[in-house]
Amino acid sequence: MAAMRIGSLTLTSNLFLSPLAGYTNLPFRLVVREIGGVGLCSTDLVNARSLLEKNPKAFKLIETRPADSPLAIQLFGSVPEEMRDAAQILEARGAAAVDINMGCPVRKVCHVGGGSAMMTESGKTAALVRGMVSAVKIPVTAKMRLGWDDQNITAPDLARALEDAGVAGIFVHGRTREQGFGGRVNLAGIRKVVEAVKQIPVIGNGDIITPQAAKKMFDDTGCAGVSIGRGAFYNPWIFQHTLHYLNGGVSVPASRLVSSLAPPDAVEPSFAERARVMCRHLDLMIEVFGELPGCRMFRKVAPWYSRRFGPCHEFNKRAVQISTRTEFHNVLEDYTRWRRQFLDDHGELLPRFRPPAMIASFMRDEPAVARREQIPVPKGPVEVW
Ligand SMILES: Cc1cc2nc3c(=O)[nH]c(=O)nc-3n(C[C@H](O)[C@H](O)[C@H](O)COP(=O)(O)O)c2cc1C
Repeated sequence: MAAMRIGSLTLTSNLFLSPLAGYTNLPFRLVVREIGGVGLCSTDLVNARSLLEKNPKAFKLIETRPADSPLAIQLFGSVPEEMRDAAQILEARGAAAVDINMGCPVRKVCHVGGGSAMMTESGKTAALVRGMVSAVKIPVTAKMRLGWDDQNITAPDLARALEDAGVAGIFVHGRTREQGFGGRVNLAGIRKVVEAVKQIPVIGNGDIITPQAAKKMFDDTGCAGVSIGRGAFYNPWIFQHTLHYLNGGVSVPASRLVSSLAPPDAVEPSFAERARVMCRHLDLMIEVFGELPGCRMFRKVAPWYSRRFGPCHEFNKRAVQISTRTEFHNVLEDYTRWRRQFLDDHGELLPRFRPPAMIASFMRDEPAVARREQIPVPKGPVEVW
């Protein structure tokens, strides 16, 4: 698709990696960037005060390297001076943009006035933003939900107020806080935000799990870019495939599994390609966090890759126990052998073992219900953001 600008920043693509606390760390961002197609990646949300207090955990969250560029760092907090000073620290450390978390529905963030509580007090929030914008040269963006609940759809008004306060772009997840991750993403709601602002880009977000879903979000909302979270975690190829699809490339049906290395128009990367990228991801985790911590963290990552392997319990039950790289490679080797019983003569999964096609909530006819092919909300980190 297209290059785009956010304030002074020029991006080569209008596809974004959304912040996913506990997942969008340096190794994952590098994996996504190596595959290609992403314009701007975000870190997990980082507590502004923790940065000012020089908390090592906060600094680990913003660890980066030249290949991890351009990078937006997401801050949360509600004290204007802390947010301003933290933004200056990030600018000095080379961040390409600072994003403000206004969509976090978790009590511990909301009750101190950050996250989606910000959406209910737009005057106060605009003042906080103004302080940050005037303190740094890099673009300041905001990420929000549509509002607190269906009776309080505040995103269009808030977006307009934030534009006046100087934000360079708005990310909007098309659900309310009350919705959590249930129900459908409301494309008409995102469109209202697009229509509310004068000229800054609005980036739509929520449930994009296929190139077709990205196109529908662009078409139905008029957004300038789309941001992908969970869809990227289960399929780091999604940016490359979406770019290709939006540029007129042919897309194969989502259910088709290819056996060689994935060509750029294939929606499903082959098992060999998934395994290659998964191993690269583990190597980067070990490089950045050390072997034992990296392997421990990878225990929750590996099952995301295996979702599209076909029958995968034999893999998962051992992958969630690994402590070394060698152990992981043994698990993968044994699994690859075991998996052969599900393959045809060409090495492709027999049709009955193929995972179902993924369908975005807003591309279903029926109301979204918990279905196997729906994108899951990971356990664990959700409780802490
Ligand atoms: C595990 C998890 C962690 C998340 N962490 C953050 C976060 O740190 N900051 C934020 O603004 N949104 C966070 N989100 C919300 C996502 O950025 C995104 O808005 C949401 O998941 C919808 O997009 P998706 O359907 O593409 O995942 C998180 C979501 C999940 C599932």
